[in-house]
Amino acid sequence: MSTRSWRPERREYWNWLADSLFVNCGGEHRNPLIQLMTTTLEVHFAPAEYALMAALDLRETVCVVFDVLRATSTMVTALGNGAAGIVPVAEISEALSFRQCRPDVLLAGERNGVRIEAHLTGGRGFDLGNSPREFTAERVGGRTIAMTTTNGTRALRACAPAAAVLLGSFLNLRATAKFIEQQQPPHLLLVCSGTLDQTAYEDVLGAGALCDLLWPKYGGGAVADSALIARRLFRLEQNDLLAAVAQSRNGRRLMAQPDLREDVAFCVQRDLLGLVAEMGKDGLVRSQGPARTAAQP
Ligand code: MLT
Repeated sequence: MSTRSWRPERREYWNWLADSLFVNCGGEHRNPLIQLMTTTLEVHFAPAEYALMAALDLRETVCVVFDVLRATSTMVTALGNGAAGIVPVAEISEALSFRQCRPDVLLAGERNGVRIEAHLTGGRGFDLGNSPREFTAERVGGRTIAMTTTNGTRALRACAPAAAVLLGSFLNLRATAKFIEQQQPPHLLLVCSGTLDQTAYEDVLGAGALCDLLWPKYGGGAVADSALIARRLFRLEQNDLLAAVAQSRNGRRLMAQPDLREDVAFCVQRDLLGLVAEMGKDGLVRSQGPARTAAQP
């Protein structure tokens, strides 16, 4: 796992300050001042908020993007099965241009939930859709994948100016939370990708689950009401996540398709993978943890 800090030069400064300055609480208790720094934790629920992100200063913010059904779950699974990396792009045309420069890449993604067929490309159909169960070690091991989905890849691109962009899913939630705890970014923004122009229930549950894990570290800081809402909702639903997600708009859509219904149960599995997925400044999503894991969809 990477030990890189979000803003190395500032992190060193704050560490130096924390080592140098202490709050003397009497007796043996001397607490480093850095504990008094305010952290922020916020959740963006709706796709309309992607556009607003361009106006935000995200240089000190770590974004975690959730598209539980299914883009981020699928990308995390692909990395777990040994994919070299994933390039998320917003449009089909961008994926096609990428393959023109790099004929070795696989093209993946969906429109209306199903694999992008030849009539949408003007040529060949895409190699893979957006079902995590398609991204087996045999199909994706060692390969780079250019991927476009309706919301998930757009949400990732919208977060590109952030200090770091992580991919959130139930499949690697604990590993992601641990990574954040180790790196201690001061500002955390959890971005729910949604469905078309609407909020997606399953993304809010995913964001709420991460808020819950990080509460001991971030709950004492400036917590936005959106984070309170997401966490409360997750705590209400956590005992039967499958039932909760199956009643969502996306869940119902997938459950109604015999080929895709298993994706819902697949995507709500907790902590199947020990990897952290991060989109680098070069736009490539890579694994920060063990390349291969137990994931065998
Ligand atoms: C998206 O990016 O909007 C979703 O992943 C859609 C889907 O999985 O069908």
